[in-house]
Amino acid sequence: MANSCRKLIFNIYIGFYCSAVIQICICSQFTSSSFDQSNKDRGAFPVAINGEIFPWHELRLPTMVIPLHYDLFVHPNLTSLDFVASEKIEVLVRDATQFIILHSKDLEIMNVTLQSEEDLRYRKPGKKLTVLSYPAHEQIALLVPEKLMADLRYSVAIDFQAKLAEGFEGFYKSTYRTLGGETRTIAVTDFEPTQARMAFPCFDEPLFKANFSIKIRRESRHIALSNMPKVKTIELEGGLLEDHFETTVKMSTYLVAYIVCDFNSVSGTASSGVKVSIHAAPDKWSQTHYALEASLKLLDFYENYFDIRYPLAKLDLVAIPDFESGAMENWGLVTYRETSLLFDPKTSSTSDRLWVTKVIAHELAHQWFGNLVTMEWWNDIWLNEGFATYMEHISVNVTYPELQLDDDFLYMCFEVIKRDSLNSSHPISNQAETSTQIQEMFDVVSYQKGACILNMLKDFLSEEKFKKGIIHYLKKFSYRNAKNDDLWSSFSNDCLESDSTSGGFCYSDSKTTSNTLTFLRENMEVKQMMATWTLQKGIPLVVVNREGNSLRLQQERFLNGVFKEDPEWGALQERYLWHIPVTYSTSSSNAIHRHVLKSKTDTLDLPEKTSWVKFNVDSNGYYIVHYEGHGWDQLITLLNQNHTFLRPKDRISLIHDAFQLVSAGRLTLDKALDLTRYLQHEASIPALLKGLEYLELFYHIMERRNISDVTENLKHYLLQYFKPVIDMQSWRDEGSVWDRRLRSALLKLDCYLNHAPCIQKATELFSQWMESSGKLNIPTDVLKIVYSVGAQTTAGWNYLLEQYKLSLSGAEKNKILYALSTSKHQEKLMKLIELGMEGKVIKTQDLAALLHAIARNPKGQQLAWNFVKENWIHLLKKFELGSFPIRMIISGTTSHFSSKDELQEVKLFFESLKAQGSHLEIFQIVLETISKNIKWLEKNLPTLRNWLLISI
Ligand code: BES
Ligand code: ZN
Repeated sequence: MANSCRKLIFNIYIGFYCSAVIQICICSQFTSSSFDQSNKDRGAFPVAINGEIFPWHELRLPTMVIPLHYDLFVHPNLTSLDFVASEKIEVLVRDATQFIILHSKDLEIMNVTLQSEEDLRYRKPGKKLTVLSYPAHEQIALLVPEKLMADLRYSVAIDFQAKLAEGFEGFYKSTYRTLGGETRTIAVTDFEPTQARMAFPCFDEPLFKANFSIKIRRESRHIALSNMPKVKTIELEGGLLEDHFETTVKMSTYLVAYIVCDFNSVSGTASSGVKVSIHAAPDKWSQTHYALEASLKLLDFYENYFDIRYPLAKLDLVAIPDFESGAMENWGLVTYRETSLLFDPKTSSTSDRLWVTKVIAHELAHQWFGNLVTMEWWNDIWLNEGFATYMEHISVNVTYPELQLDDDFLYMCFEVIKRDSLNSSHPISNQAETSTQIQEMFDVVSYQKGACILNMLKDFLSEEKFKKGIIHYLKKFSYRNAKNDDLWSSFSNDCLESDSTSGGFCYSDSKTTSNTLTFLRENMEVKQMMATWTLQKGIPLVVVNREGNSLRLQQERFLNGVFKEDPEWGALQERYLWHIPVTYSTSSSNAIHRHVLKSKTDTLDLPEKTSWVKFNVDSNGYYIVHYEGHGWDQLITLLNQNHTFLRPKDRISLIHDAFQLVSAGRLTLDKALDLTRYLQHEASIPALLKGLEYLELFYHIMERRNISDVTENLKHYLLQYFKPVIDMQSWRDEGSVWDRRLRSALLKLDCYLNHAPCIQKATELFSQWMESSGKLNIPTDVLKIVYSVGAQTTAGWNYLLEQYKLSLSGAEKNKILYALSTSKHQEKLMKLIELGMEGKVIKTQDLAALLHAIARNPKGQQLAWNFVKENWIHLLKKFELGSFPIRMIISGTTSHFSSKDELQEVKLFFESLKAQGSHLEIFQIVLETISKNIKWLEKNLPTLRNWLLISI
């Protein structure tokens, strides 16, 4: 599954089972080519719903009219579940036109009028406009009786209404249950990428930045929140209240947000004076304190790090009971899934704390990367998401060093390598036009690969230069939009540009000229280098061949599941070339040697005689390394003799690369397995866990395929090999973060393998918990394990389901749901699916994760897959085609398959979907993944079988 989804995002779902300051005129943002509004010769125009000709046929909006300011009034009714609203959009006409094209989706437009500046000045009434609607493009056309004149401003007033949306997009309803059993409703927005148009007619593209003045009408039992602080509340006749919010800074539509709810909050003040509040449903108020502490620390960090003040007076973080993704960075009003914000000391584990901290760090990073500086178009969403993901690690490493997040970055890069080494991967910057394609851009490639290549660039440039570059970028493009090249240019000295000194980036001494030249040269280098990482898909393999003191390097495209001897290999290699900033260390010194490999082959001379060479120091580079000749043997020997000669991250990357090379047919499985033998002496927990992860993975593959002899032997091997470290584990929440992560992983495996002492201890704790009516505190890091063991009896399973209904902790509910999904009884698993489809006890937001969890259960894999096939139409009623849950459901229920029959079945299903007009990138990823699995088994099963026979 992991192949298709961002790991972080994925964690939300699987949490329950593993786990710029120059204001530039807006005109400069639009290219003259996009001015060509002549509709002649552009083919046929579409037909609007009323049968008239719709005057625009492109998906992208024309740029002859641009928004400057929106006055938005919204009045949701949480009883009748609908809203009435009105807006006045101040627009600037850049080219004379007879129509205005806007986005609007599922809104009933009642009245539209237009006033010129003159009309406004003389208080003349607006002229009524004709509205045409073209739902296929989610656009409306406002036809004006007389041509709008270039360079003039107009005001468009629109009255509209709609039902609160049923899903998770636009202005939608969310419900929660109180302790007393009452169900309450709130109304909340979620717009990214293209759903602001579901809440108000607007120019819903990131480039159309504007200011927004928002007013929300509500009942007195509710509060209203929006991006900006409230200026005043007006009392209306009949008891209704109307909150008026300050006008926003200039921003994109997808960042607008408002909420009407009855939540409680905790607040604090950041060093800069910004008021930070965490809001949650009243009964969950006690779980908000960690988030407040974390967000205050992180806001301080970012303001200092970027040297740019957070521009709003307040920042609200809100836990929303029904939320499709993990969180959303609306400016000043960040929304979260409850499990991404709330922390319950009794039931939230170490992994849960890590997750909450990372999500807060991610969304706060967006307040700069994304909100202040926004990508021009969705093809470069990585400029938002890659940076926010990268900054998570930078900020948490400083604000929460005790969370020991450093090694996680490596793990994250490994995750995306799996996906990026398939031919079906795509470049980081990728064309995206339709809503579905835009949604599909939010994937591991944009998030993780984006972050990994930024880290590689930082390592290449030095931390200081990199930081200066990004600060320069943020200052230069504040309140504006940027593209890839703008970022790369920021790593040079832009003193030649008139506006550049604002970044504090110029040298004023006599060395200016030479510095400028050096920077320009470096900039070209950066631009050329980074183009190879962002405009071409995939990951390079660096093949190292040592002959005496000479190192021959060769780069090729790394392909998982395609062997060099396969006929297609050659064609798949054509035209791929990266500028790889390679690093290496040797036995003879601690120095980090550097070289940029820009050609297919290159030769380096080692300064001294060495017994070993390790490339990709600390695994900062986004490439895999293969050591030809005796290279791997020398490294295996080194690991066995004294693994501490190598840095911990280098040991992790050796384990990773070895197993990747097995999948590419470059290394035999027994060699990679032999490499893991040193793990018995490994003190670095992240390295140990990486090795364990592969062995566990093989176990799951064997178990699913019912290859019982290998399954049994592998179980035996795992229990015997990891016995000393398993025996050392206590059932208490103690030790460092990695100690605790190790405990969770080992005991989970131990109990999964049915090891008697583990089962016994977990059963004992579960019984005590049941006897205490769920009041006993079980150590949080083993909670999921205990619940999973308890769920194996009918009484335990039923009790857990009852507790699930009652629990107010999202962290606990995730753990329970995971435990329930591990039942061996099909009827219980089916009941869970039914509850998930019904969406009451098990919320729709958790359905994708549930299906995925059931599909991972050997007893549930077929059930989950059959269900998806038979209920596809129903699933599409709950989630949009390109949405994350749909992609997760598809990959989560199929990508573990490893037989030809299964491949055929999945292929047929995807073809039937395509025939119905549904086409997703994930289809190809899944098919390639299954083919790769088949090939892996064919090639490696005998080797694994034999290796186990000699190892146990
Ligand atoms: N901007 C995204 C939210 C989003 C996701 C919008 C998908 C549209 C489509 C937000 O910043 C984000 O990345 N959220 C992640 C969590 C994050 C910690 C990786 C998510 O929702 O999964
Ligand atoms: Zn994000």
